[in-house]
Amino acid sequence: MNILFLGDIVGNSGCSAVKKFLPTIIKSEKINFVIVNGENAAKEGVGITENIVNELLSCGVDVITTGNHVWDQKETFELIKKQKRLLRPLNLSNNAPGNGFGIYDSIGGYKVGVLNLMGNIFMKKCDDVFIKSKEFLDQNTEKEKYDFLIVDLHGEITSEKMAIGHVFDGHATFVVGTHTHVPTNDGRVLNKGTAYLTDAGMCGDYDSVIGMNAENSINRFYKRDSIKHYPAEGEASLCGAIIEANPKNGLALNISQFIFGGQLQKDN
Ligand SMILES: [Fe+2]
Repeated sequence: MNILFLGDIVGNSGCSAVKKFLPTIIKSEKINFVIVNGENAAKEGVGITENIVNELLSCGVDVITTGNHVWDQKETFELIKKQKRLLRPLNLSNNAPGNGFGIYDSIGGYKVGVLNLMGNIFMKKCDDVFIKSKEFLDQNTEKEKYDFLIVDLHGEITSEKMAIGHVFDGHATFVVGTHTHVPTNDGRVLNKGTAYLTDAGMCGDYDSVIGMNAENSINRFYKRDSIKHYPAEGEASLCGAIIEANPKNGLALNISQFIFGGQLQKDN
């Protein structure tokens, strides 16, 4: 059982690359299930639209997770009520539309649970991610409802992500961080069998400032002008990880970092 997770898709550059390359990657890597974080996928680099959701699902994505930018495109409020493959963080307010967890069928006939969480430190206000994680684990036992569990923790700081990795160790197949748009080199299988990666990185143009046009971002840091951020439009790198998972116990056998194309591809 091979599960591909791709980090935050940013703008047209990231979307186009996912649509172009994902079908081939699924075949060549024998992928059974694909999760992407899509909260920056809209052309403005924030939020996601119904058209993009449909395009991603039709090119092989099974589930789209999000984070702090989930509501940045107004249509998402209605879309997420009917589109169960689009998740928002579980620990948003209870009044938020949509779901933070779902169970989906994979190629090969397995049930894959996908849990979307958001960190508390330097992020928008949301419920305590540690209390919500404990509640989730108390209510959902792995063997009963799903064969595999993938956790996307959308957060800013590394220690919070690593701590959540340990909270889920032995309970989840893979805990992966998103949001910083920078892939970390610490992918490993933890002691009790959960694969862990502090940040998946992004699917976007790295000739940028975390996917956004560099010159404009620098101007904003100097406070020279108030032009809104907009994405860089060059060739994207696709960043994430492939987890080889064991159907007998739902845990990870192996994690390999996945970096393809654009400025981050090593042989460019
Ligand atoms: Fe984010």
